[in-house]
Amino acid sequence: MLECAMEVCSVDRDEGEAAGEGGGVASAEAAGEGGGGTMAEAAGDGGGGTTAEAAGEGDGGTTTEAAAVVGDAPVAPVARPAPDVPPKVLPASTFQPLPGPPARDFTGLITETRVDESFVRSFRMSSPYISTHRSAVFVIHLPGALIREPLFHSVMQDVALLHVVGVRLVLVFGAREQIDERLTSEAHPSSMGPTGVRITDGRTLQVAKEAVGAVRIEVEAALARGVVNTPEGNGRSLSVICGNFYAARPVGVIAGEDYGFTGRVRRVEVDAIRRRLEAGDLLLVSSLGLSPSGQVFNCQSESVAAATAAQLSADKLIYLTAGEAVVDVRNGSMVQNLPLSSAVDFLAVHSAGTATASESDPSEAAAAPVDDLPDVFRLCLTESVGALKAGVRRAHLLNRFIDGVLLMEIFHRDGVGFMISRDLYEGIRAARMDDVAGIVEVIRPLEEAGILVPRSRASLEGAIGDFTVVERDGMIIACVSLTIAADEPQAAELGCFAVRPEYRKLGKGDALLGFIERKSYALGVRRLFILSTQSFHWFLERGFEEISVERVPESKRVKVDRSRKSKVYQKLLLGGRAVDEQELLKHL
Ligand SMILES: CC(C)(COP(=O)(O)OP(=O)(O)OC[C@H]1O[C@@H](n2cnc3c(N)ncnc32)[C@H](O)[C@@H]1OP(=O)(O)O)[C@@H](O)C(=O)NCCC(=O)NCCS
Repeated sequence: MLECAMEVCSVDRDEGEAAGEGGGVASAEAAGEGGGGTMAEAAGDGGGGTTAEAAGEGDGGTTTEAAAVVGDAPVAPVARPAPDVPPKVLPASTFQPLPGPPARDFTGLITETRVDESFVRSFRMSSPYISTHRSAVFVIHLPGALIREPLFHSVMQDVALLHVVGVRLVLVFGAREQIDERLTSEAHPSSMGPTGVRITDGRTLQVAKEAVGAVRIEVEAALARGVVNTPEGNGRSLSVICGNFYAARPVGVIAGEDYGFTGRVRRVEVDAIRRRLEAGDLLLVSSLGLSPSGQVFNCQSESVAAATAAQLSADKLIYLTAGEAVVDVRNGSMVQNLPLSSAVDFLAVHSAGTATASESDPSEAAAAPVDDLPDVFRLCLTESVGALKAGVRRAHLLNRFIDGVLLMEIFHRDGVGFMISRDLYEGIRAARMDDVAGIVEVIRPLEEAGILVPRSRASLEGAIGDFTVVERDGMIIACVSLTIAADEPQAAELGCFAVRPEYRKLGKGDALLGFIERKSYALGVRRLFILSTQSFHWFLERGFEEISVERVPESKRVKVDRSRKSKVYQKLLLGGRAVDEQELLKHL
């Protein structure tokens, strides 16, 4: 009790001094003598003795200082030593404001509280992501250009923060701009081969070694600085290991062109990386790879990142781009996510016959670029697609000119970047006329059980364009129909949502719902509704809420068979990112 009271009084004494109310003793006397329940009294009363008594009976520096407050022979209590034991916490009922200092103006604090509320909201929103990403493996590519940009240190601080919250990080850095600049200043002849990949001669390799060394030290220094501002700071340094975590081999001669010391990843040292990550290290990998015979090869860092992510089966591969945005030309909106298959289609449309696959296999890409994508963006996209095909769960292309882009993309529901997800939707496609028999097989038993409304074969054929099916080994194993309300184009009804019994509980229903939500959103639908008698809980757990039948669009409402007493559920579609969130948190 003694230390607690003194702790509080000491703070007040300082304030009293600042307010010019006399010296420390006078203020302390006020605490000791003032009526109406001072903190000192509270301490004395609660502890079965006065503060003075306690002070008299105490020991050490604490006693001396307390005596200075209440004793007969004042001792100047100038520098108060920190208490040897932690201050205790007074019960709220015991606390009384100390007399003396003027009341404080809390206006500023109220404003601060408002700011804090938004912080608390954001922090709460991010909590599922913090927990999901703990121990996840992210491979982040740092382009050489970033090192000179104003947000470099912010990015590195955010990287350090990711590490602190438990994300296992492999940073792969490049030095393209530094190498280019140096070669240009030396008027070294152009070193680009026909595949769009740099030809590395002896001089270029030397320049690359110097550039990579310089970038590495900048990254390490920025990480050290970044961690000072994170919870892991307090003088402790981040364990950054820069190592030879992959073996390289030469690209060789392609179309008669010798690529010299240009290399590509031959093998990633997966076990070594995993061991280091589990030990809590942050790994730094450069674009210079070594062959088992000790030769150095200059590799494309974007490809090193993708190969590393692929062989590690990383949870995320992240590229920091120059801010390119993928736009849906139909409505001018920014595309924030694409399933892998759509990303493949996108690349096919935009880069048919280009050199995009050059680094992973330059021999496959001998034609000149003919598309409209910026080279580096296309390279990142291509490498992302390759990595996802090889098992990486998600790739993100983030505008590095947005401050905090990493944190917003990773810990915020809406994200700010462009994300490609591995296909969760394998086998899901639009139904064709020859699927009708398969759809009937799925829904007929449910119609007979009264779970679904019976539909004639002819009506199914007439509405086949509304159906999406899941096909496996030539068999229809699930289906759903989506019909947009004629009188409310932003509302659509889900019907015939069914999975064959032997394929249930495998996530097919979730995948089908995610697919249909994305499709609906792309079609401009903003609310989905469904009538259900027995499976409404399944939809409730997936963000649907019950509504009255009166809120069903008129054109649909007139067709509802009210005798079935179905419940109506609706879900407001907030965008593709909301779907991603559900999928992410369900670990689909
Ligand atoms: C509802 C349905 C589509 C779910 O398909 P699914 O592929 O099994 O779904 P998922 O694998 O994604 O999810 C399975 C989870 O949903 C739960 N679930 C299944 N049916 C449910 C129901 N009627 N109510 C609540 N939860 C249900 C399962 O128990 C499982 O949860 P668990 O893993 O915690 O045990 C499927 O059960 C079905 O076809 N039901 C009959 C048709 C129907 O009722 N359609 C809806 C009305 S149109």
